Amino acid sequence: MKLIVAGATGLVGSELIKKSLQMSAITQVIALARKPVQIDSVDSSKLKNVTIKDYGEYSEQVRSELAGADACIWTVGVTPIKSKRLDFSEVKRVCQDCTLAGFKAMYEAGPARPFRFVYFSGDGIMEDYNAKKPFFLGDYIVMRSETEAIVRKLPEEYQGIEICVARPGVITSSNTWARAAMASAFSATNFFTRAILNVTLEEVSTAVLNQVVGGFEKETLSNADLVRLGQAALEVKES
Ligand SMILES: NC(=O)c1ccc[n+]([C@@H]2O[C@H](COP(=O)([O-])OP(=O)(O)OC[C@H]3O[C@@H](n4cnc5c(N)ncnc54)[C@H](OP(=O)(O)O)[C@@H]3O)[C@@H](O)[C@H]2O)c1
Repeated sequence: MKLIVAGATGLVGSELIKKSLQMSAITQVIALARKPVQIDSVDSSKLKNVTIKDYGEYSEQVRSELAGADACIWTVGVTPIKSKRLDFSEVKRVCQDCTLAGFKAMYEAGPARPFRFVYFSGDGIMEDYNAKKPFFLGDYIVMRSETEAIVRKLPEEYQGIEICVARPGVITSSNTWARAAMASAFSATNFFTRAILNVTLEEVSTAVLNQVVGGFEKETLSNADLVRLGQAALEVKES
């Protein structure tokens, strides 16, 4: 399987790269990002860095590197916290226009059939973007909801593609001190309840990688689905 990880330098993208390099079913990993991905601890012979200036523009040379892919996991997106530092038009361009531009570039390059495309959204994004705009982060949530709707409609226009929308809650990890502290707090409360929906970086990346390899269980993976699928796959791996 040839897998494209778009947004390969991000929190989720870099974990997907590390894990996919260790999966025998994945034979080629394309790290699509604005800068090359550095991997130290894992054999990176299957990895090809494809560096672009902007997720909205794909040269002929880049398209040729994307050709023949079996799947893409699209993690490019401006998170709510980072969105506050940018003009909303740029947030929308990165989250919505670039998702569509990236998908089209891969499709026009000629993917394998079926071509599985995972789009990373998030828990709390409204199901219907025409519904009442939420008070907090309203424009952002409506825009991400509209992007989900655009992605879900792609199979109507493009043949041979399968779509999955991943909607994680807060993704916890030990990558930084702050994230480790947050992960510890969630781990304690998760013992009793997942009151604030959350999933570990390991669970979400394992779940999504298993889905692109084995086929999508359903079109939308909620936080609970990602926890369940991730934990099940990790248990099998450990036994
Ligand atoms: N982290 C969470 O807790 C969480 C929870 C729910 C949903 N999600 C969603 O999951 C996806 C991945 O999240 P993440 O935590 O991996 O995010 P991240 O670490 O911020 O990475 C996001 C990716 O998007 C790119 N990106 C961000 N801002 C950009 C900009 N202004 N212009 C161009 N590219 C930009 C980044 O590229 P560079 O590396 O080049 O900057 C990176 O590849 C996002 O859609 C996010 O909304 C995340």
